[in-house]
Amino acid sequence: MQRVGMLRPNEILEDREGVLHIDGVSALELAERFDTPLYVMSERRIRNNYRRVYETFSKRYRKVKVYYSAKANTNLSILKILEEEGSCLDAVSPGEVFLALKAGFKPERILYTGTSVRDDELRFLSESGVTINVDSLSQLRRLLKISTPETISVRVNPEVGAGHHEHVVTAGRESKFGIWEEKVVEAYRTALEAGVKHFGIQMHIGSGILSVEPFTVATENLLKIANRVHEEVGIGFEFIDLGGGLGVPYKPEEEELNLDLLAEKVTALYRERVEQYGLGEPTLCVEPGRYIVCDAGVLLTRVNTVKVTPFKRFVGVDAGFNTLIRPAMYGSYHPVVVANRLNEPGEETYTIVGPICESGDILAKDRMLPRIQEGDLIAVLNAGAYGYSMSSQYNSRPRCAEVLVMDGEYALIRERETLHSLLEGQHYPPWLK
Ligand code: LLP
Repeated sequence: MQRVGMLRPNEILEDREGVLHIDGVSALELAERFDTPLYVMSERRIRNNYRRVYETFSKRYRKVKVYYSAKANTNLSILKILEEEGSCLDAVSPGEVFLALKAGFKPERILYTGTSVRDDELRFLSESGVTINVDSLSQLRRLLKISTPETISVRVNPEVGAGHHEHVVTAGRESKFGIWEEKVVEAYRTALEAGVKHFGIQMHIGSGILSVEPFTVATENLLKIANRVHEEVGIGFEFIDLGGGLGVPYKPEEEELNLDLLAEKVTALYRERVEQYGLGEPTLCVEPGRYIVCDAGVLLTRVNTVKVTPFKRFVGVDAGFNTLIRPAMYGSYHPVVVANRLNEPGEETYTIVGPICESGDILAKDRMLPRIQEGDLIAVLNAGAYGYSMSSQYNSRPRCAEVLVMDGEYALIRERETLHSLLEGQHYPPWLK
């Protein structure tokens, strides 16, 4: 496999005579056929990423479940692929539950982890039969008024968080998520007294974590809390869920998360503690989102403008932060290549900007790239997670299309919105008619 630009090669990205191919499909052909901006997802990479996580953990511990975190990418075809793989699913909204059920997930394979959850949502979840992971005592009490589920899980704040940006740190003092230790016992006691039979315990410390240590520190804390519940409430756990957050390198200097080491350390600690605390053999769950879909996705966007100012060299493309918000929202770096000039050397420093009327609409800042011309095709890599799922119609731009590729074949999996999509659901009030 040849290296693409400055990138780590992976099994789907290939340089064929200067043209980026994604699992055997020419990026130029896709852009021509479906127009741009266009998200391209690789089925092969998604399947292999899932299998890698599942196998790496399950060869070290007998009972493992991987919950794909749907928020990273909720396209129905992607959900279907993961359903076929045997994945379980982490959902955070009724919409994600709805889509997962449509894609064929049985409710038993769905864990709902919401925050600020409304009563009507709790009712919907109870009726759909998914397992609910409660985020507060308030939510638990309101749920128990609606129904008494067989199983309840509690999201615990394990006091340590981590992540690539403060917005995605989801545990620790500043975080709105989870229940702190002193209230956890009360939560399980309340559920037990209400007649709940089976229990789980969960945490999720943050997103985009490339080192092992935060996971082991948080796992230690979570298991200590599980032990306290076990001793004080007298219940056991069907599952202990360590959450997601497995990072993927975006910048050239970032090193890959050592998945083997992560699984080794975490399962060793887990096994030791469940034995020490007499917790039996609860299923070990992990909830990766980014790790499964991030590097399976490429965003293709066409150059329409090259503008040189006394200070900068701008490349104007047709994808802005309406299409990929991560650079604007978190200052995230995404690798970028010129999909039709992979074999040309970097010559100029370009800043790649979109069509949104805000100065923060920058996809990539100061990148050394081959000499770019209008009409060139830019590929933004590692765009499969939190790309389409966070896109919007801001500036009244219809959302883009999505394509799935597999071994030289491709298919449209989501149509491009049209101008008419912008009218959907809008009404004039009677006095304007
Ligand atoms: N489980 C729960 C309860 C979560 O809230 C999340 C993500 C995950 C699992 C999966 O995390 P992952 O494995 O993908 O890191 N929009 C941000 C990421 C937000 C993640 C929110 N929660 C970004 O683009 O970086």
